[in-house]
Amino acid sequence: MLHFPVLLEESVDFLIQNIDGSFIDGTFGRGGHSKSILKKISSKASLYAFDKDPEAVKFAANFKEKNFQIFHDSFKNFHRYFDKESIDGIIYDLGTCSTHFDNSQRGFSLNKDGPLDMRFDNTKGTPLSEWINKAKKEEIIEILYKYGDEKHAKFVANAIDKERKGKPITKTIQLANIIKNNFPDKKKKIHPATKSFQAFRIYINNELEEFESSLRVTKKILKKNGVVVTIAFHSLEDNVIKNFFKPSLKLFPKDIPLNNVEERSFRCIAKKIRPSDDEIEKNNRSRSAIMRVFQKT
Ligand SMILES: C[S@@+](CC[C@H](N)C(=O)[O-])C[C@H]1O[C@@H](n2cnc3c(N)ncnc32)[C@H](O)[C@@H]1O
Repeated sequence: MLHFPVLLEESVDFLIQNIDGSFIDGTFGRGGHSKSILKKISSKASLYAFDKDPEAVKFAANFKEKNFQIFHDSFKNFHRYFDKESIDGIIYDLGTCSTHFDNSQRGFSLNKDGPLDMRFDNTKGTPLSEWINKAKKEEIIEILYKYGDEKHAKFVANAIDKERKGKPITKTIQLANIIKNNFPDKKKKIHPATKSFQAFRIYINNELEEFESSLRVTKKILKKNGVVVTIAFHSLEDNVIKNFFKPSLKLFPKDIPLNNVEERSFRCIAKKIRPSDDEIEKNNRSRSAIMRVFQKT
């Protein structure tokens, strides 16, 4: 299954305030947003895309436009490629692509058996299997609470600890079953390992820290009046956005002159936009999406 871009029209409309500008798609994925941006910008404009995932970068070879360039790197490293105040708009569509779950070999899916990896960039870093067999039990508990809000973190960590003393945990279904078979709440509607898988994925990819450092870089490389569009899929991501842009969160209508909000680095021009019922019906993954848009003042 291909990845369906979320809040496509709305996000790209906010992003492109100047059709001749320079833009960054920080999370290329399968290029849903990039494709739409390229259709709307002029041939004088540029689009630079980033993704940590080598498969996403490979897919970008299908994009033949001369004003498009892909970088295999984390969005936390924008400053290595761009000068201060050189970019007109940046979009982040956070989290995973559907394609990550479709490919069992990437280790994201709790329903498809494969190596327990979960790295967006599987050319470097530590796969989950390596960490989960060595980490202290207390560390596992902390990750489950912090990134999964898993109230049964202790049960899950104890079960993992017991299993790994017998044999190493190396496969996705093995981990999903360890959690399922030991989970105290038997009435759960979602798979009992869902929150744990989310927590481990966020930890292994250092997702929230990299996003936070990327926002700091974004603040520097954006031109005055430049725009940041963020699409978050859970409260942890949305909290990073809300904390970073805290002073700017009050919504300012577009027609308020910028000199009225000088004390802020950004102003919020779109607050908590959610997909329509129609979009959610067509693409269930979009149901938790929250879009926010900020403009540099
Ligand atoms: C939701 S998908 C983006 C989908 C894309 N907008 C589309 O329409 O096809 C998120 C992408 O961000 C990538 N990603 C996650 N963390 C990243 C980071 N720190 N730097 C760059 N890319 C990252 C993932 O590999 C994934 O491909």
